[in-house]
Amino acid sequence: MDNPELARSLRLQAAGCRNLGSPFHGDLLEHAADDLEADGPVVALLTPWAEADLRKLFDDAVALRLLGGLHDLVLSGDDLALAATYPTPGRKADAAPAWIAARAAILRHQDRLAAFMTHEPQTNEVRRSACLAPGFLTIAAETGLPIRAFEVAASAGLNLNWDKYRYQFGDTAWGDPEARVVMDTQWTGSAPPVDARVEVVERAACDRRPGDLTDPDQRRRLLAYIWPDQFERLDRIRAAIDLALSLRVTVEEADAVDWTARVAAPRAGAATVLYHSVFWQYMPAESQAALAQALASHGASATRAAPFAWLRMEPPPEHMSNMEVRLTLWPGGEDRILATVHPHGAWVKWLN
Ligand SMILES: C[S@@+](CC[C@H](N)C(=O)[O-])C[C@H]1O[C@@H](n2cnc3c(N)ncnc32)[C@H](O)[C@@H]1O
Repeated sequence: MDNPELARSLRLQAAGCRNLGSPFHGDLLEHAADDLEADGPVVALLTPWAEADLRKLFDDAVALRLLGGLHDLVLSGDDLALAATYPTPGRKADAAPAWIAARAAILRHQDRLAAFMTHEPQTNEVRRSACLAPGFLTIAAETGLPIRAFEVAASAGLNLNWDKYRYQFGDTAWGDPEARVVMDTQWTGSAPPVDARVEVVERAACDRRPGDLTDPDQRRRLLAYIWPDQFERLDRIRAAIDLALSLRVTVEEADAVDWTARVAAPRAGAATVLYHSVFWQYMPAESQAALAQALASHGASATRAAPFAWLRMEPPPEHMSNMEVRLTLWPGGEDRILATVHPHGAWVKWLN
């Protein structure tokens, strides 16, 4: 294929995977880039992006679609030869034989992989709750009120159950000691206010393309985007999915702007919290402005008896690799950074 940006994007994403703790996927993408330059089988899967520039390749997360498609095949059990080369707990995998198996798998399952890659990646990272929960604790401590929690861009809704997981904030534990969803975040800084009384009296979520956890294919798709050599992340999301299914978590199909204006107005007797993680960048500028307007309008109607909070985990515009947890709390509208965090919540530097 003539487009050199394609191989470049695979190699850049390879570096990203290594930086975020997946050497296997880093190496696999290097092999994929070599294969592309040698006109190997992977070319057929990348044809829809033959003309794309680097920006478009990253906006579409093409490399992650390719990795997700192969991992989905492994998880389905429909290609045992490929699965035999993937990492498992106790078996460190080598990406060289894995890529040889992947080339054969691409030839065997080309239509299925191409179909998988037509979808934009749908991820839901549970450990982001380790970044958001301390923000909820701060809101509970500062308002002294029960919480109404509204999540926009919630994907399958796994971070809607943030108060039902178990956390370790440095030496301080918080949450349900019996919980199967456990956060192993590396914590620096003082502990958040774990003595605050946290009672969630209402919770709801929306996404423009919600994940339906009752659909086995969608459940597998969520797992497929977790990198296969990150066993703790896989265990955690499986436990979170089981919990969400048992609690019948649902995510409404709606646009964040309309939904926020419609459902998240402050109400007396509770702190109303609108929250999100890793979503702002996916909105066009006019939607960002409209959402900021809806939030400011709810903030303007907030009172001490009916406070309104905007809690979010997003990359600062100038630096996309680490993220910030920010809180704006009305009345008053004071805005502050609570923490800087790893994109998957692997570490949290608590600043408050
Ligand atoms: C990277 S995922 C993050 C999902 C989840 N918040 C998490 O941290 O795991 C971004 C999500 O934003 C959703 N999204 C993007 N634009 C949206 C919009 N305008 N309204 C609602 N959801 C949106 C996507 O469908 C996707 O589920």
